[in-house]
Amino acid sequence: MKLVPFQMERWQSTWEHRVEFNLSESGVEPLPLRELLREEAAIDRFLNHPLAYSQGNGTPELRSSIASLYPGTTPDHVLVTNGSSEACLLALWHLVEPGDEVVLLLPNYMEGWGLIQMFGGKVRPLWLREDLGWQFDPAELATLVNRRTKAIAVCNPNNPTGAVMAEAQRRAVLDAARDAEAWLLSDEVYTGAEREGPRTESLWGGYERTLVMNGLSKAYALPGLRIGWVIGPPETIATLWAFHDYTTLTPTYLSDRLAQIALSPGRREEILGRTRSILQRNYGLLSEWIAGHGPLFTHIPPVAGAICFLRYGLPINSSDLAWRLLKEKSTLIVPGDQFGMDGYIRIGMGHAGPYLSEGLARIDGVLRALAAEKGAP
Ligand SMILES: Cc1ncc(COP(=O)(O)O)c(C=O)c1O
Repeated sequence: MKLVPFQMERWQSTWEHRVEFNLSESGVEPLPLRELLREEAAIDRFLNHPLAYSQGNGTPELRSSIASLYPGTTPDHVLVTNGSSEACLLALWHLVEPGDEVVLLLPNYMEGWGLIQMFGGKVRPLWLREDLGWQFDPAELATLVNRRTKAIAVCNPNNPTGAVMAEAQRRAVLDAARDAEAWLLSDEVYTGAEREGPRTESLWGGYERTLVMNGLSKAYALPGLRIGWVIGPPETIATLWAFHDYTTLTPTYLSDRLAQIALSPGRREEILGRTRSILQRNYGLLSEWIAGHGPLFTHIPPVAGAICFLRYGLPINSSDLAWRLLKEKSTLIVPGDQFGMDGYIRIGMGHAGPYLSEGLARIDGVLRALAAEKGAP
């Protein structure tokens, strides 16, 4: 199989733990284990867990907590995976056959973009448009769907724009999938990370051939647990579990138990509240920084997620800009090139404390150098 490199993950995996300021991160400041466990009794119980194999599809307790988040589902509608990235892998591995077409909402996390091609499928891009407030044009979706369409894959809330699908687009996606009898794949890992406004409604429940991917890495600030899940019709979930036998077998025993704590009703709301307050504080800081640069940057305020997607007005390619920041300032951002969108950069804003301001000051250093080189005042 020919590898289609996952550019953004290669970039982040290579550098994120080697730089002084990692502004490529797309989640919020992770919760410490002690904060999740809290009481001494819980810590003690946790230390007594065996380092055993866990239930392959997730414990019944965890699957029923997850099922309670999706009306009409039971634990049989849930497969627990190692991160939502594994959930996406299993879904596409199962569904995409050579020659299939998948309509993919772009820009996107881009895992699907690579996997669809590696499984022999063809990506039919459906672009979000800045002039439509980072929505897609439903008329364009209609031109992309045909009898070869195996699936329509969306990321809602969206990475990297932070946009949430509007009602007209939601209806268009559901109608298009139903008309084509295609699968609807919805990556909803940023649900619950709304900076303001209501919680994003899941696409689950609008059409029977839907698979929803989600997990604890973003809104729940627990990426190190590597807990994700897929929601779908029970017979499809059973098939995906059989695919899972070839990947990682089980979620880790400890992560499954910790996820049960995070998803218990009171704790869940508390964690999501913490996420929202970090995002509100940090977006305030970031938007002030953006405004301070006058017309250099334009952006549409993200509704959800710990990321901000900026268009910049500098005569430099986005990967070159990111490389300069990395080499000269030990600061990592994501260049728009990695989403097929040069002229943009993605900045993570989920960090606690002064980290974000210090990272932004490093970016200012490169911007000043660029201005001096181009002879700007
Ligand atoms: C939209 C989206 N989906 C999926 C993932 C994968 O996350 P994880 O495997 O940690 O759940 C990410 C990570 O950045 C993401 O941004």
